[in-house]
Amino acid sequence: MTDLLLVGASGLAREALNVVRASLEFRVIGILDDNEGRYGTTIDGVGVLGALSLVHEHPSASLVICVGRGTHRALIDERLRRIGVTDKRYARVIHSAVDVPRDCHVGAGSIVLAGVVLTSGVILGRHVVVMPNATLTHGNRVESFATLCAGVTLGGGVRVAEEAYLGMNSAVRERVRIGRRATLGMGAALLHDLPAGETWVGVPAARALAPVVQSKRLTEAESRSR
Ligand SMILES: CC(C)(COP(=O)(O)OP(=O)(O)OC[C@H]1O[C@@H](n2cnc3c(N)ncnc32)[C@H](O)[C@@H]1OP(=O)(O)O)[C@@H](O)C(=O)NCCC(=O)NCCS
Repeated sequence: MTDLLLVGASGLAREALNVVRASLEFRVIGILDDNEGRYGTTIDGVGVLGALSLVHEHPSASLVICVGRGTHRALIDERLRRIGVTDKRYARVIHSAVDVPRDCHVGAGSIVLAGVVLTSGVILGRHVVVMPNATLTHGNRVESFATLCAGVTLGGGVRVAEEAYLGMNSAVRERVRIGRRATLGMGAALLHDLPAGETWVGVPAARALAPVVQSKRLTEAESRSR
């Protein structure tokens, strides 16, 4: 078994923990989080050991970033890269009952939860999170730090750009493209390309909210990470 550190004391960490415990591939040795208020607490029996810089005290441990928002995962990945963490250290956390066909690829640091279906030619980048019962079909390309919430369904040939966020039970018509840092609201049916940074909701999906939703959250995350 390989030692594993979860980065981020979050709800996603709790979900990843269950996947990892069932797989017997990894032994979780702790959680790292820069929030000092969490030091010494536990998540399902696993201790929050301290700050991200502790990665160097466990040089043989693999890592997985367990933070729900892709923009935040990207910031943490960048911080870890600056202190010398390379892709080789990132684990893939894939539920044991999820089939990854030979023509599909799951990138370093990605998390794939229970009930996810990957049909054929599906490519997931780095630190992608795919939540329960999402269905990805032929030729889907999901770029790094994207988040697909529970029940998302992608038609064939859909492209999802970096840090995009697709809410629960949203559906995307075949060959549609979703831009970088775009948000698709839960329950939406997306028929046309969604431009970078915009938030679309509804059936059929349309622009409903100002892009400030995403950029405000990113600014808050950036200031926390400094
Ligand atoms: C789209 C989304 C990001 C907007 O969040 P927000 O910025 O907090 O927006 P608000 O809740 O303030 O809603 C703003 C408006 O959009 C509407 N709205 C929000 N989400 C909507 C959705 N999914 N579908 C249709 N309308 C929606 C609200 O009714 C509100 O309309 P109003 O201004 O006429 O009252 C959010 O509602 C969403 O769908 N998030 C995904 C949730 C999810 O999948 N979570 C999984 C966690 S594991």
